Amino acid sequence: MRMKASALAHPNIALVKYWGKRDTVLNLPHQPSLSVTLEPLAVRATVQFGVAATSVVINGQPAGADEARRLLAFLDLLGAAGGARGPVRVQTHGEFPVAAGLASSAAAYAALAKAATLAAGLADDGRALSILARQGSGSACRSIDGGVCIWRRGVLADGSDSYAEQLVDQHHWPALRMIAAVVDRRHKRVSSRAGMRRSVESSPYFDAWCHDADAELSRARQFVLRRDLEALGTLSERNAMRMHAVAMSADPPLCYLEGATLDLIRRVEQARASGLPVWYTLDAGPNPVLLTDADHEAQVCALLADAAVPQVVTCRPGAGARSISEHLF
Ligand code: PMV
Repeated sequence: MRMKASALAHPNIALVKYWGKRDTVLNLPHQPSLSVTLEPLAVRATVQFGVAATSVVINGQPAGADEARRLLAFLDLLGAAGGARGPVRVQTHGEFPVAAGLASSAAAYAALAKAATLAAGLADDGRALSILARQGSGSACRSIDGGVCIWRRGVLADGSDSYAEQLVDQHHWPALRMIAAVVDRRHKRVSSRAGMRRSVESSPYFDAWCHDADAELSRARQFVLRRDLEALGTLSERNAMRMHAVAMSADPPLCYLEGATLDLIRRVEQARASGLPVWYTLDAGPNPVLLTDADHEAQVCALLADAAVPQVVTCRPGAGARSISEHLF
């Protein structure tokens, strides 16, 4: 057994969204989803088993009680799989600009799954890693591979058929750009976990949202394969708005959008009407991520500067989670 290992993983942005769990412990979704792994944002993780005492450090600070409990419960899954048990030392470090508006948990749990699996001396198999990462944070299963990944919904109760697979790697569409526009740095008021639960339990639109997902996924897959930015951008906007419509139709209603979000959406629509190829998507928060290509990146950044967006992070398709030789401790 290696006992100590480190890994790096990137976050991802879903263009066909996951919104609703059919199992809240195993993080099994009600619908399939498709995402792009994003460079240069990354989380590094080091895991060491066989230490004297357990400790969890996140971005240089001891983890809070809830966060530490969640992370240690996640690492316990490896014990159940025949890997290491006992005290463990963990550190993660996010290479994210402050409040980038992109969830770091997907990258963190993908990096942790990889590092912990190696440290426990278990087989470093892509499907097993995706299944493990999914149990830390659903969307993390889509950060084990790079490029564009599809998370299969699966039908089995144990989740063994619910994992992400790579559709194309990061070299398929190197000109694709995802530009995170941080219009609002405040912490979101309702977590994805709680928002999903409320949507599943009370939105009258929830069944329609799930019904739509398979068709959206097969369309998105074709658009990615033929690198059709206009078709993929159009689909991404529609899919994000449908996800928000489900959240807004929950009881009580849940609105993640802020005034600055709508202002930017209008600007994107106007810029597109004047010929700029730019579309938006939105996770469960107020900060849009704009889709464009390398040729129009500068114009999209100029649009964001014009809108006085306080922080902008330009991303491109990235590689999958990987082992690194430099440990965090
Ligand atoms: O995996 P979680 O619990 O962070 O949920 C992610 C949900 C969305 O980001 C809104 C959509 C998605 O598919 O990533």
